[in-house]
Amino acid sequence: MNRLLTSMRRFPPLVLCILASLPINASESEPAQVLTTNTSREAYTQAVTPLTAEQRQHFVQGRSLVRQSWIISPALDRDTAGLGPLYNRNSCIACHAKNGRGFAPDGPAESMRAMLVRLSLPGQSATGSPLPHPHYGDQLQEFGAPGVIAEGRAHIEYEETEVLLNGGEMVRLRKPSLKLSQLAYGPLPDDLQTSARIAPAIYGMGLLEAIPDSTLLALQNQPKPGKIKGRVNMVWGVEQKQHVIGRFGWKANVATLREQTASALAGDMGLNSSLFPHGNCAAKQTACQAAPVSGNPEISTAQLQQMEFYQLALAVPVPRRQHHPLVRQGALVFRQAQCAACHQPEIKTGEFLRLSALSNQTISPYTDLLLHDMGPDLADNRADFEASGSEWRTSPLWGIGLAKQVEEKIGFLHDGRARTLLEAILWHGGEAEESREMVRQMTPEDRRALLAFIESL
Ligand code: HEC
Ligand code: HEC
Repeated sequence: MNRLLTSMRRFPPLVLCILASLPINASESEPAQVLTTNTSREAYTQAVTPLTAEQRQHFVQGRSLVRQSWIISPALDRDTAGLGPLYNRNSCIACHAKNGRGFAPDGPAESMRAMLVRLSLPGQSATGSPLPHPHYGDQLQEFGAPGVIAEGRAHIEYEETEVLLNGGEMVRLRKPSLKLSQLAYGPLPDDLQTSARIAPAIYGMGLLEAIPDSTLLALQNQPKPGKIKGRVNMVWGVEQKQHVIGRFGWKANVATLREQTASALAGDMGLNSSLFPHGNCAAKQTACQAAPVSGNPEISTAQLQQMEFYQLALAVPVPRRQHHPLVRQGALVFRQAQCAACHQPEIKTGEFLRLSALSNQTISPYTDLLLHDMGPDLADNRADFEASGSEWRTSPLWGIGLAKQVEEKIGFLHDGRARTLLEAILWHGGEAEESREMVRQMTPEDRRALLAFIESL
């Protein structure tokens, strides 16, 4: 007691006050570790270290909520109620299995199990967002609670083409086209804009959020080879109530991880929160508007923050086989073929107060989080804030080599059309056309090396 008093006397009250409000870092001396060596099916579910006891608790609580299967209201168990009245799936991990990526159906008879379809009318809302349809909103919900009819069903049909590579290998590509059926809220106009998107993986999100805006602007302004440009998407930040740089979603169409989480809760599962208090009923969906809700909000701010924290703290798999000669050759080919101009091999995070383990880390996300014009074959022809119909955010490649190990069924590219990494590369066009041609024309040995390198990430 005496000692405490003397030490208190050494600090004026203001300093004590500041000390008390600093995050308690249990293991100040322990170096931050944002990569995981886990290569099992749990590779994408590991936490960065160190976490304080309190952070560990948030991580575990957030994990339960991300894995939670929600049920339709009204229900006896209010803790798990709130699904719908319109929804796509009943849990986050139904689409992001084991925190990994989704996939596309293999033909028109299969339903969408880990993807969704965004909808809009031509034009923009006052904030610059895509213009929702008055009866269907901005996303097709394929399921409804009793008494609330599902909006319709989405199917994908494919047309196959072949690409011949130097060395004689023939690769079959499948070009998807979207068909909507059983439309329950009236016909959709001919100029309806759609965008079918698979679920991307959700590890490493905190590190992406910890990249300073100034770094993204510097990447945008940095000279790049050939036709390659790249620019940030400016999107409406629902929390910030102003335009900010977008980072999440296939078109960098969402500002923050918290907003992404709240918008998934509302849009994909029909759970409202302080950020999206009105769930996902479209302006003219009266049965949806009148359906029971299980609380207002259905997700508390504390729950939303726990789900956000869980994802913030998810570690990224450490690259493997980095000294293998084929992988080393592949790393070289990756740079020669200009992949690294978009898929950035090295970025530094800034100060990140919410989770200090993420601060000032040199990371290898293999993305610049910038939009690139990928040409007409990949275009969805649906603008999303400043992203045009043919622009997409460079996909992060970290951890991608373990995707198949984590989940057998996976797809690549925004609509999951690519079944393999090579197919994904061969769809690159627009700013990445030269890159794709280099891959097509390189020796089979170099191509094998390139793929071995991506598999090692
Ligand atoms: C119906 C399938 C589905 C469900 C359910 C779903 N997601 Fe997603 N998720 C997606 C799709 C599709 C995208 C890409 C959205 C876009 O591009 O606009 C996405 C994007 C994300 C991203 C951004 C990843 C990145 O790389 O930018 C995060 C984070 C995320 N979801 C978290 C969640 C959480 C948390 C939940 C549960 C509350 C959830 N998702 C539920 C399909 C789903
Ligand atoms: C001009 C920028 C650019 C260049 C150059 C580029 N990419 Fe990409 N890459 C992208 C974008 C943007 C996407 C997302 C496209 C989509 O989903 O429609 C992507 C997607 C991918 C994917 C699929 C990732 C996923 O999560 O599904 C792989 C694999 C890939 N690129 C590898 C490469 C390789 C290898 C090279 C070099 C031969 C390369 N890229 C060159 C921008 C680029």
